[in-house]
Amino acid sequence: MAYKILKKEEIAPSIHKMVIEAPDVAKAAKAGQFIILRLNEFGERIPLTIFDFEKEKGTISVIFQEMGKTTKQLTKLSAGESLEDFVGPLGTPADIRNLGNVILVGGGVGVAPIYPLAKAYTKAGNRVISIIGARSKDLLILEDQMRKVSSKLFIATDDGSKGHHGFVTDIMKKILDSGEKVARIVIIGPPIMMKVGAGVASPYDVEILVSLNSIMVDGTGMCGGCRVTIDGKTKFTCVDGPEFNARKVDFVELIDRLATYRGEETKAAEKYEEECRCGLH
Ligand SMILES: Cc1cc2nc3c(=O)[nH]c(=O)nc-3n(C[C@H](O)[C@H](O)[C@H](O)COP(=O)(O)OP(=O)(O)OC[C@H]3O[C@@H](n4cnc5c(N)ncnc54)[C@H](O)[C@@H]3O)c2cc1C
Ligand code: FES
Repeated sequence: MAYKILKKEEIAPSIHKMVIEAPDVAKAAKAGQFIILRLNEFGERIPLTIFDFEKEKGTISVIFQEMGKTTKQLTKLSAGESLEDFVGPLGTPADIRNLGNVILVGGGVGVAPIYPLAKAYTKAGNRVISIIGARSKDLLILEDQMRKVSSKLFIATDDGSKGHHGFVTDIMKKILDSGEKVARIVIIGPPIMMKVGAGVASPYDVEILVSLNSIMVDGTGMCGGCRVTIDGKTKFTCVDGPEFNARKVDFVELIDRLATYRGEETKAAEKYEEECRCGLH
């Protein structure tokens, strides 16, 4: 079965949104889950978070950043074209309950997985304080959408071109220091940001969750590729996660394992770009 791309747009430099026709996935999707797609029969399988889903229309939206070969290839596809595989929803849905005050922190393309959580936590009756950030204002995504699903929205940019000049975690710390009672914090972004964020929030009496982006292959707990260590025990991000208690995550191992194939990934991206220059794609 082919999965038709209904819409595609660049929402920030090198960051794209795609709406895909996938009625069975849309019917079962819940906040916090992801899909694994494959462009064609020779393609690599890559996981992307379900950014939004519309059960009635049978559509799933994803937001992806151009990183290496597969995401660059994905960028070249247009509305009307199709994907060979689109498997999901995968992973354990986020644990959404009415907890009171919840802080959601998203960095870079990590704002995309924060959006469905903000929507779901708000629907469950929580007061959602969202903090989103990027390196600069051009790279900041989903500001308007996030405002609609949050009680309060804060913005941070590394270069100070919009909102707070500094990191999203600075704002998070300020809120925690104000003495406001917060039941849960969810941090999603580059692994180093999640590690630092978890460290900053650790001394406070608050539950801290992160959504891990381990390298995945099958997405069903069979290959072991997404192995992570949580509280000294081996877990598979694709079935046991992607959401975990940040205080228990071995971030050093996660960051190390993400770099395992860097040499091969760089070669594949360079070869692909060379072929593009030669007009082969
Ligand atoms: C549960 C989950 C949800 C994700 N959601 C999003 C999302 O919503 N938007 C988004 O832009 N990115 C998301 N990612 C990351 C995305 O899967 C990678 O950026 C993508 O696989 C890169 O593939 P590539 O061929 O373009 O780049 P490559 O050059 O192959 O890789 C670039 C980097 O991406 C990571 N990566 C590579 N292959 C995989 C793989 N099979 N599985 C996981 N990570 C990989 C590695 O850190 C690698 O160094 C998610 C990852 C996971 C595990
Ligand atoms: S991706 Fe294979 S076990 Fe998780």
